[in-house]
Amino acid sequence: MLRDSAGIMANPALYLRRMAGRHGDVVQFPVPHPTYLVTSWEHTRTVLVSQHRCADKDTPQYHSLAALTGPGLLAAEQDAWMQQRPKVQPAFARTSLAPLAAIAAEESRAWAGEWADRGFVDIGPAADRYSLRVLSRFLFGVVDSQRVEDVLAATRAGLEGVLNRVRFAPAPANGTDWRPRLDAAVARLLDGAGDTPFVACLRGMSDPEEVYSQVRTFLIAGHETVASALIWSLALLGAAPHRQAELLEQSPTASPSTALHNDRWRRTVDESLRLFPPAWLITRRTRSSMRLGQFLLPAGSLVILSPFVVQRDARLWGRPDHFDPGRPEWERGQPPGYLPFGSGPRLCIGREFSMSVATAALSELAHRLSWQLLGTPGLRAGVVLRPRRRVTLRIRHR
Ligand code: HEM
Repeated sequence: MLRDSAGIMANPALYLRRMAGRHGDVVQFPVPHPTYLVTSWEHTRTVLVSQHRCADKDTPQYHSLAALTGPGLLAAEQDAWMQQRPKVQPAFARTSLAPLAAIAAEESRAWAGEWADRGFVDIGPAADRYSLRVLSRFLFGVVDSQRVEDVLAATRAGLEGVLNRVRFAPAPANGTDWRPRLDAAVARLLDGAGDTPFVACLRGMSDPEEVYSQVRTFLIAGHETVASALIWSLALLGAAPHRQAELLEQSPTASPSTALHNDRWRRTVDESLRLFPPAWLITRRTRSSMRLGQFLLPAGSLVILSPFVVQRDARLWGRPDHFDPGRPEWERGQPPGYLPFGSGPRLCIGREFSMSVATAALSELAHRLSWQLLGTPGLRAGVVLRPRRRVTLRIRHR
């Protein structure tokens, strides 16, 4: 494993895939604590769904996140999670999501308008801005996203601090300076917030620390993930302009607010999330021993799961590394081996939100513009799966 450390650091997602290819569905790592990489769909489902009660989030991944967000919904362990989820679920109910279509349509029109005058664009900043604006309008009713930007900037400073601790990297001794800055930014955001379903949920919480934790959690969980989904979707379509033409043939009129219900746009985003799942790594700790086929994992094992590896498993997906939104697997609705939003009770609360926001932007951009990817994005498997390099597109009017 020490021999492999350069490969792990260079690209952990590809490293996990290589380990699965070399050693099979359940790989044990030679570290003092029992640690397993589990990559078959069947065993992944066992951990996340059928035996979910035997596996909790008491893992380094979620401890690092909780150091930053506090005990919010994403990092919460089972007992806390059972208390928290019902309190925020109403904010993502069908009726609460109703205003999202109009917000996403308006913001995607603004995005397409900005790009329409340009010859070359860098996808990253535009996708970040769009996802942040939609998220801040939906969650907090805040149109001027500066207050949200402040929370995210303070969060990023904190994330660096937390990651430095995990990496044992030298950092200033006052390494928790980011905390008051973050708390002040969250307070300012809440001061300016409107009357949204999410804010109503926050108002129902009696403990201010819980409110702050959920605000940080939902911003972190919802911002970069959606931006990453958009970056990859645009890059993949940019590398295959004939796919853009196909999409337009099948859906000739632009309608960002209904794109979510159009199979073609949905499958394009699904296919992109399959190849480049923003949340490429999911971890659990077994609370009791767990049987996975012929393997018995002892209680207290760290289990590493990877949507990135499962979603490129050649036993489940024909030509697994190939981008094909028309592939037959999508005809079956939610095919086996597809879990970009996780699975089981801890399934992402923001799934429909994300699909709605991503399909709206793609449909609007594709109806107004065509684009071509320049260069190769590479892969950076950090907290979220993002391109390693800046992703540039050449833009043309339709
Ligand atoms: C493309 C976008 C997104 C992807 C790929 C994604 C992925 C995921 C995954 C894989 C999980 C499960 C983690 C686990 O089981 O350990 C998860 C959970 C979660 N996500 Fe997302 N997510 C996305 C967008 C969002 C958005 C927009 C929000 C909120 C605005 C959000 C909030 C959460 C929360 C709070 C949880 C924890 C749910 C629970 O445990 O009850 N996510 N997400």
